[in-house]
Amino acid sequence: MALHDFDVTVRGGRISTDSETFEADIGIKDGLITAVAPGLPAGQRDIDASGRWVLPGGIDSHVHIEQLSGMGMMCADDFYSGSVSAAFGGTTTIIPFAAQHRGKRIPEVVADYAERAREKAVIDYGFHLILADPDERALTLDLPQAIRDGITSLKVYMTYNQLKLDDFQLLDVLSLAGREGALVMIHAENHDMIRWIAQRLLERGHTAPKYHAVAHDPLAETEASHRAIALSRLINVPVLLVHVAGAETVELIRAAQKLGSHVHAESCPQYLFLKAEDIDLPGVEGAKFCCSPPPRDARSQEAVWQGLKDGTLGLYSSDHAPYRFDASGKLPQGEATVFKDMANGVPGIELRMPLLFSEGVMKNRISINEFVALTATNHARMYGLAHRKGHIAVGLDADLALWNPLTHTTVSTTMLHDNVGYTPYEGMQLQGWPELVMSRGRVVVQDNTLQVQRGSGQYIPRLRPEAVFTKSGTTPAPRLSGMLGLKGKAWPTN
Ligand code: URP
Ligand code: ZN
Ligand code: ZN
Repeated sequence: MALHDFDVTVRGGRISTDSETFEADIGIKDGLITAVAPGLPAGQRDIDASGRWVLPGGIDSHVHIEQLSGMGMMCADDFYSGSVSAAFGGTTTIIPFAAQHRGKRIPEVVADYAERAREKAVIDYGFHLILADPDERALTLDLPQAIRDGITSLKVYMTYNQLKLDDFQLLDVLSLAGREGALVMIHAENHDMIRWIAQRLLERGHTAPKYHAVAHDPLAETEASHRAIALSRLINVPVLLVHVAGAETVELIRAAQKLGSHVHAESCPQYLFLKAEDIDLPGVEGAKFCCSPPPRDARSQEAVWQGLKDGTLGLYSSDHAPYRFDASGKLPQGEATVFKDMANGVPGIELRMPLLFSEGVMKNRISINEFVALTATNHARMYGLAHRKGHIAVGLDADLALWNPLTHTTVSTTMLHDNVGYTPYEGMQLQGWPELVMSRGRVVVQDNTLQVQRGSGQYIPRLRPEAVFTKSGTTPAPRLSGMLGLKGKAWPTN
């Protein structure tokens, strides 16, 4: 190999993928990994990775950025601050949502979000579609087109007044997704349980943030998850349950998977590192910890750890939902805000990976390979990105993070790059940090400094998530298939 055949050589690191760990150099040319072997020649630029873990850049497949929420609040992060914050935490690809609100046409929604991201993102990105209005036109024309254009997953809600679909609509969407080969992500909480409890709490003057966790009883999550799984089984179409929080829900998903159901699931840092009791703070302070579903108890934290470890929960995402602690987000009526009116969600795009690296890998709860699977590889496989991202191998994008396992960091809001103004993880002591982050061979973060220009991230149209549709296991018999014309559906290949 001639001198400088590589633009960059990453030298002397310990590489981990989802299945292997070995020492080798990585040669990069034109943004791609072109060699992985010991003793590679120097590149035009050599990066010393000795003493570092060289891991695939993270993929955060659940982030809300520059998005109008169901409750009508605009996120505090735009595509610049959101993507910069992601990069500083070791993430090189994000999949935010293009959010349809009722009455809006899908092509316009998609074009709008594409425009928002184009000039700002510093790392690569795709989009999921939030679908709030699955009318005839959406189901027959607009959604199939969006899927063909690379938006191969959609999120639907079983709660929130402005977003909620009923079971009939959910079946329509699942059926369409099955035909087109797209993945349906479901926010599973029983809307009426939450509404009913919340109304009684408010009538009794229980308005503080901690009552958010009371209103969102764990059974609301378990019931809706069970229903989502049943709908999926009825017509034999895969689903992905997002932000799983409760122990009973983890058990339910595990049992369904054992029966052969095509149910996949995700959890998030807030369900490992926060508890419902954190919301019980003076005044409205607890609003900083409110997301849906809310953080639970120690038993649920343990169940989520176990689910991530044994594969029941295949994805670990941030569900970064950035709202400031002021009238623009968490406190629309200031100190008088009642729990029903706070913006839902917590920030976590930057700390997602450092939290799991420190508390999972460094404390031997998960292996480094499991860390890679949960933060990158599984996202690529589930969301049609595996042809480019989520792994270290010749031919893939050179998206890498060099982790120093010896770094000690005390989390503080001031060190973060989002636009939220607080972090629920303030004061946590973390070991390990991604010191150098690279996207398509470009160094994005080094020496704690951003090295790339605004807008240098690229939109990545995603393939259909074949891994989801070819999951091994017994497929439940589609009882209705013949009669309803569901039989013989040919999920398209890419
Ligand atoms: O509370 C949450 N998770 N807010 C963000 C919106 C969502 O449901 O993902
Ligand atoms: Zn959700
Ligand atoms: Zn979310």
